[in-house]
Amino acid sequence: MKTNIILMGPPGAGKGTQAKLIIAAYKLPHISTGDMFREAMKNETPLGLKAKSYIDQGHLVPDDVTIGIVEERLNQDDCKGGFLLDGFPRTIPQAEALDKMMEKMHRSIDLVIDVETPKEELIRRISGRRVCKACGAPYHVDTMKPKVDGVCDICGGELIQRKDDNVSALTTRLEHYEHETKPLLDYYANKGNLVTVDGSKEKDDLFLDVSSLIRGE
Ligand code: AP5
Repeated sequence: MKTNIILMGPPGAGKGTQAKLIIAAYKLPHISTGDMFREAMKNETPLGLKAKSYIDQGHLVPDDVTIGIVEERLNQDDCKGGFLLDGFPRTIPQAEALDKMMEKMHRSIDLVIDVETPKEELIRRISGRRVCKACGAPYHVDTMKPKVDGVCDICGGELIQRKDDNVSALTTRLEHYEHETKPLLDYYANKGNLVTVDGSKEKDDLFLDVSSLIRGE
């Protein structure tokens, strides 16, 4: 089984949705830089206040800040048996920093899953997305509705729209993806650990594909 895993893909590709299924099935710690920043923003910590000025407008949080929080998290005990990185790395300097972290830990990334989803589908997904205010679980007003309107199936929390899920911030996020994150596909293809999956599939069908990759089938 692959245990040191990166989930990549543009905003709205379905990374968070697949991550929830992966961590439930394979008991890996979920390291989502987006979730970490949102938690810090909710608690109004110095990190949260700094991140908010970038995130709400769709910009990337500076590399030094992002690399620091990931390094600290990867050094925690629960990551010893593996981890699922979701939304990190997003720039070449972040990928190079991650390589150095892996080297120090005498480990390596053994699978990079790129969730490839067409742009018009990303826009449809982001504009209809609702997330649980308490646990962050994602829903969609048309395709992934909760059992009770406005209420999270998992924890009963309130469903809200993310502040960066608007047309202006999404345009900026997609531009950052094109220019800064997409070059990572070549970076990992050259290392031989990149696999692309079809993100336009229904979530449970996509999870079957993702599961086969994790099990190394
Ligand atoms: P982050 O939280 O990582 O946001 P993102 O990459 O823009 O990704 P999203 O969370 O928008 O989408 P997703 O791919 O997880 O899709 P989801 O599963 O929710 O980052 C937020 C911000 O933090 C960044 O913009 C940046 O500012 C900052 N940041 C984070 N990491 C950083 C880093 N490394 N460096 C610098 N800055 C960083 O699904 C989307 C919708 O589609 C949902 O409604 C869902 O229900 C629906 N859906 C999902 N799968 C399917 C399916 N198969 N079929 C139909 N609908 C589906």
